[in-house]
Amino acid sequence: MKRREFINTALTGGVLMLTGSRFPTQEARLADARIEILLDEPIGRIAPEIYGHFVEHLGGVVYDGVWVGENSKIPNIGGVRQALVEAMKRIKASVIRWPGGCFADSYNWRDGTGPRAQRPRRPNFWVDAPEWPKGAPDGPWKYDTNHFGTDEFLRFCQLSGAQPYLAANLRSLTARDFYEWVDYCNSPAGATTLAEMRAAAGQREPWKVRYWGVGNESWGCGGNFTPEEYSVEYRRFAEWVPRYGLNLAFIGSGPNGGDLGWSRRFFGRLAEKGGFGRMWGWALHHYSWNVTGGRTNDWFQGKGEAVKYPNDEWYELLSEANRMENLITDHWAVMGEFDRQHRVKLAVDEWGAWYKPGSEVHNTHLLGQQATIRDAVLAGLTLDIFHRHADKVAMANIAQLINCLQALFLAHEDKFILTPTYHVFEMYAAHQGGQSLRTNVSSSRPQYTRNGKPATMRGLNGSASLHDRRMVLTVTNPDPNAARETEIAIHGATVKEVSVTTLTAKDIHAHNSFDNPRVIEPQASQASVKGSRALVYSFAPASVTRLQITLA
Ligand code: AHR
Repeated sequence: MKRREFINTALTGGVLMLTGSRFPTQEARLADARIEILLDEPIGRIAPEIYGHFVEHLGGVVYDGVWVGENSKIPNIGGVRQALVEAMKRIKASVIRWPGGCFADSYNWRDGTGPRAQRPRRPNFWVDAPEWPKGAPDGPWKYDTNHFGTDEFLRFCQLSGAQPYLAANLRSLTARDFYEWVDYCNSPAGATTLAEMRAAAGQREPWKVRYWGVGNESWGCGGNFTPEEYSVEYRRFAEWVPRYGLNLAFIGSGPNGGDLGWSRRFFGRLAEKGGFGRMWGWALHHYSWNVTGGRTNDWFQGKGEAVKYPNDEWYELLSEANRMENLITDHWAVMGEFDRQHRVKLAVDEWGAWYKPGSEVHNTHLLGQQATIRDAVLAGLTLDIFHRHADKVAMANIAQLINCLQALFLAHEDKFILTPTYHVFEMYAAHQGGQSLRTNVSSSRPQYTRNGKPATMRGLNGSASLHDRRMVLTVTNPDPNAARETEIAIHGATVKEVSVTTLTAKDIHAHNSFDNPRVIEPQASQASVKGSRALVYSFAPASVTRLQITLA
């Protein structure tokens, strides 16, 4: 095999070879896969808001996760877990959605204002959920003390460097409560009674909250509306809200996964009245949960284990995640039937893996779950999909931040660890704000057995972005059994230097734990090359890889 340069990196199975030819033909035929990056086909700017988070009053997310209280022995900043704030800054957390989720449509923002000791205790939306781990004691996760309210949340965002995204209660409060919440957050210092109330809580200047969700899952826990009914409620809520000089961005409660009818009927109704009422984003929720390969669609029976899963569930779960691409393009097409200029973008404000209960790190963590290398691959391939549709997806929020579903962090009292998903966010942060480039990936498909029959799934997946002369290419290899030697052709530039970061594990069940917090961590290496327009790289099995490529 003729190769002009050969660089053996220190990486796990990663072999980087560079060719001087513009379109290497010999290697192309020999490689298992091919990635073509087209510099002259920009897709759109990768909105930093794609790297958004979600904090709901659910199990251990707020109490034990984000909020430990000012008098805690756990290091905190005004009651917020300090280690969390520091880790959020490292991944350039862009936006945080709060207070739900389903909780949002049961929440009265007034309960979380004023002196903490005088705030009311209320039953949490999730108090009767069938998934509560056995023996879960009562506490703020079941009867909310409201110690974490609007100002505490907005301070957490400020400390983390993220923008807030507040979800308004459309099911059980009024349009007036909504615009008064906007008043409380955004009115100029001293201008209104609510501005004075905010000042009494320690925040004289407006918080300047731009993103507002108008309900959550209004087809389900957010009111069980039809799209026609929700369109009436949406218009009522969005019709008049004081702007206070801000370019407010409203996010409508969009579909459950592939329910195109919800998008079509809602947009149709808004179009009848001639506009989209300051709607900036249309929420899309997609969880990867059904690992049965079609045996059942039952919400409880269809889920698998977070850690001790059989091999076929690896493939099934990742295939579920791959559905995101069609969900985006299908809903986008429907939205375009009415919103021809595509003024409204998609906000995928809940996504991630959802497993059976049983792997939570504490029994107060309703919907808490462990995270393996499989979750890292899921996160990487989903973020790559968002990049490839940077013209359509303006925001995304992984569910959820800590101690719940596909969390970036697990914490209990003074224990705090980073999950593999966190490391993907850390690696992929380099894409934020870059120009997404058309990236064509072709590779062989991993084979597995699905309910006794041969099956395959999508192979390598990736995306590339450009930041002046620096290119970021991220790639996931979902095949747990084979590396993929891949020819990477960069059309329109030559390569000067490449640095590689890989996240992988030999055991597909590998995960970080309080006892072993660094089982899965990114590994870095550097390769210096000159004048090449293509390279060959071997992507390790079950891996997420970032190549940072300096162009000449
Ligand atoms: O993230 C958990 C729940 O999933 C949210 O509260 C709800 O919006 C969705 O159904």
